[in-house]
Amino acid sequence: MKTFFPIVWLAGLLALLPQTLKAETTSERDERMRWWREARLGMFVHWGLYSGAEGIWDGQKYGGGVEWIQNQAGVPTAEYAARLRPLFKPNPGFAREWARLAKVMGAQYVVFTSKHHEGFALHDSKVTDYDAKDFCGRDLFKEIVKALRAEGLRVGVYYSVIDWHHPDFPVKNTGLPHPLAHKRNQNLPDPDAGRVMSRYVDFMHQQVEEIVSHYGTLDVLWWDWSSQQTQGESWRAQELMALVRKHQPRIIMNNRLYHSPNVNGDNLGIFDITKGDFTTPEQHIPATGMPGVDWEACMTLNGTWGYSQHDLNWKSAEMLVRNTVDIASKGGNYLINAGPMVDGSIPEAIRIRFQELGAWMKEYGDSIYATKANPLSAVPYGRITAKPGKYYLHVFDWPKDNRIIVPLKPAGAAKAWMLADSKHQPLVCETTPEGVVVTLKSGFQNPYASVAVLEASGTAIKPGAAMK
Ligand code: GLC
Repeated sequence: MKTFFPIVWLAGLLALLPQTLKAETTSERDERMRWWREARLGMFVHWGLYSGAEGIWDGQKYGGGVEWIQNQAGVPTAEYAARLRPLFKPNPGFAREWARLAKVMGAQYVVFTSKHHEGFALHDSKVTDYDAKDFCGRDLFKEIVKALRAEGLRVGVYYSVIDWHHPDFPVKNTGLPHPLAHKRNQNLPDPDAGRVMSRYVDFMHQQVEEIVSHYGTLDVLWWDWSSQQTQGESWRAQELMALVRKHQPRIIMNNRLYHSPNVNGDNLGIFDITKGDFTTPEQHIPATGMPGVDWEACMTLNGTWGYSQHDLNWKSAEMLVRNTVDIASKGGNYLINAGPMVDGSIPEAIRIRFQELGAWMKEYGDSIYATKANPLSAVPYGRITAKPGKYYLHVFDWPKDNRIIVPLKPAGAAKAWMLADSKHQPLVCETTPEGVVVTLKSGFQNPYASVAVLEASGTAIKPGAAMK
């Protein structure tokens, strides 16, 4: 029928238009973000071909993030792959080891590098043979996802839009790094000749679609990263995010399709929910949190994300506990990194620290999971997290007289106990002009962070001086 054609054309035209993200109401968004906002602790895993280099190339030791070693040493892909491929032989149950450790640590989710900047994909990709299936006959993505789910963990996938392997990924003028731009390669012919960025972007969309459509429900997509020149529509980001959402309607994505690790987070002026659900301050904790913005601080355990045999500068378990508390008190999530060795096993130094953090979380997790930022002003002895009608008083520096002040003007009776005290023996609470003075019980001290619970309602004394 004649009148039918315009409808067909229209439908056809609409299909050609790039998809954009469907708008959500605030309550739909809150509902989708809920588990993530309550999770507070996640484990990051950086693992790929680079893990086999162990921070050394041609006898030279590299520092910083050695998952960048290909770029640090300026190694062309053929040489890089030839050297590292024979080393890449993951242990049979490596993924179970990761998942168990994450569980023991108290993490609620795990984000793993399914493809880092080197371009090597852990999933079975049909659009490249630079993937685990072709290298070792296994779909490692599948193994990891299965192991995480078996432990009841949420699944997060890191995907690098930077790709040093793909022949169309630009070498120069993107503001993004590339090994062929290294001075070692300056005498090679123009490395950008013949490279067509749009072909790379097509490839990337295909790879991402493989990931989001073949492995069941994924909970987080963790993009990495963009520059001032190369961001957003350089990646056809809105279309890409809509593609992801089409397959994974409840997935949560960070905003690094638009931002670099350094410019991304702390400037609240640039946070925009159409560009990602949360922002990712890297290697630091924003001093006063980021009110109204979902954020996750990602940090290394030593100085590198990928495994290095010579970086032994480990953070202490005490620091992990205190960072967890500090970040929760500012309303963020903490994503702590582990860099497994090339066989997938996790170095003992990491295991010990994660187990210690986990032991603390097991006892004190109520003061972290599902809490909100400290609504009161900063306290000199530690940090405060909150739940409706409850304040968790984290004590880092135990006062000699056992007394701490909570800057709260209580509306009625206040009740307090030590969180580690299963009998909930009451602590003495006195109301003073500076706030509620709680006398702690020294039998319940913890060397990393002791916790008392204060059950009270009321108003903040000196609000606005919150969180430090
Ligand atoms: C940076 C680095 C990368 C690391 C990431 C983690 O973007 O390029 O190596 O994976 O941060 O946040």
